[in-house]
Amino acid sequence: MSIDKLSGKTAIVTGGSRGIGLATARALVTAGAEVILTSRSQEAAEAAAETIGAGAVGFGAHVADEDAARRCIDFALATYGSIDILINNAGTNPAFGRLVDQDKARFAKTFDVNVWAPILWTKLAVEAWMGEHGGAIVNTASIGGFLHEAGLGFYNASKATIVHLTEQLALELGPRVRVNAVAPGVVRTQLARALWEEHEAEVAGATAMARIGEPDDIGAAIVFLVSEAASWVTGTTLVVDGGQLLGDAGRFRPSAVAPADRRSTT
Ligand SMILES: NC(=O)c1ccc[n+]([C@@H]2O[C@H](COP(=O)([O-])OP(=O)(O)OC[C@H]3O[C@@H](n4cnc5c(N)ncnc54)[C@H](OP(=O)(O)O)[C@@H]3O)[C@@H](O)[C@H]2O)c1
Repeated sequence: MSIDKLSGKTAIVTGGSRGIGLATARALVTAGAEVILTSRSQEAAEAAAETIGAGAVGFGAHVADEDAARRCIDFALATYGSIDILINNAGTNPAFGRLVDQDKARFAKTFDVNVWAPILWTKLAVEAWMGEHGGAIVNTASIGGFLHEAGLGFYNASKATIVHLTEQLALELGPRVRVNAVAPGVVRTQLARALWEEHEAEVAGATAMARIGEPDDIGAAIVFLVSEAASWVTGTTLVVDGGQLLGDAGRFRPSAVAPADRRSTT
């Protein structure tokens, strides 16, 4: 069984114009799939697909716009005849700050894009194809869904919610459809720029694998989750974070451990 055999499969990747979504679309094409990647902008989606070349097409669709989502699903079926893989990746964080300083509009946008949209696209893909023929779905969560971080209350709650809903969907849609999530740590993308740009060395130093993530790290994990190699994996959230969720690795480096601490106490 190989993890690079997605020939004959059709995949939709929401939020594929850059970052993790674009890297995932490229990885899926490399594994043999035909990929439709989306963006709010038709031009941005097409430009991103062109960077991949054969096997990728761009489709403009705001991820929380039901009519646009239906058009994309219809396009996929009409063009390729199936929708075997859905990557609910588009994400947003318009609400940095304390919860008591937020408003309804920022709450609604965060939860519309990060939580409702994955449910909407899943529903449409299941109705159109996967319910009868099967499929594999991956939602992009975040290690923030397992943490409490200053200023990220809405965003992290939306990611905790999608982890829970991934499990619910796996129960509701099995055995035909597998539903999993990935939980990336800090990855070098536009969305997370504030988390790494001015202190990359510090973040890398606190990470067990001594670097921040690259979009390809997440794309590779997603290809595994939608492949036959993961045929008995559903309802799980695969943490892909270089060890960040484990805590500050800097304290564990040999240089940070004082000689006295290294003595055996037995
Ligand atoms: N980078 C990290 O450290 C990190 C960590 C954990 C989780 N994540 C998650 O990973 C996912 C991808 O984020 P990224 O880091 O790769 O960010 P990114 O580089 O900023 O990409 C975000 C993508 O989402 C699309 N998008 C945003 N709002 C959209 C909407 N309303 N409708 C359709 N597409 C929309 C953007 O397309 P357009 O702007 O062209 O519309 C873009 O393609 C998100 O779910 C994010 O929460 C990221």
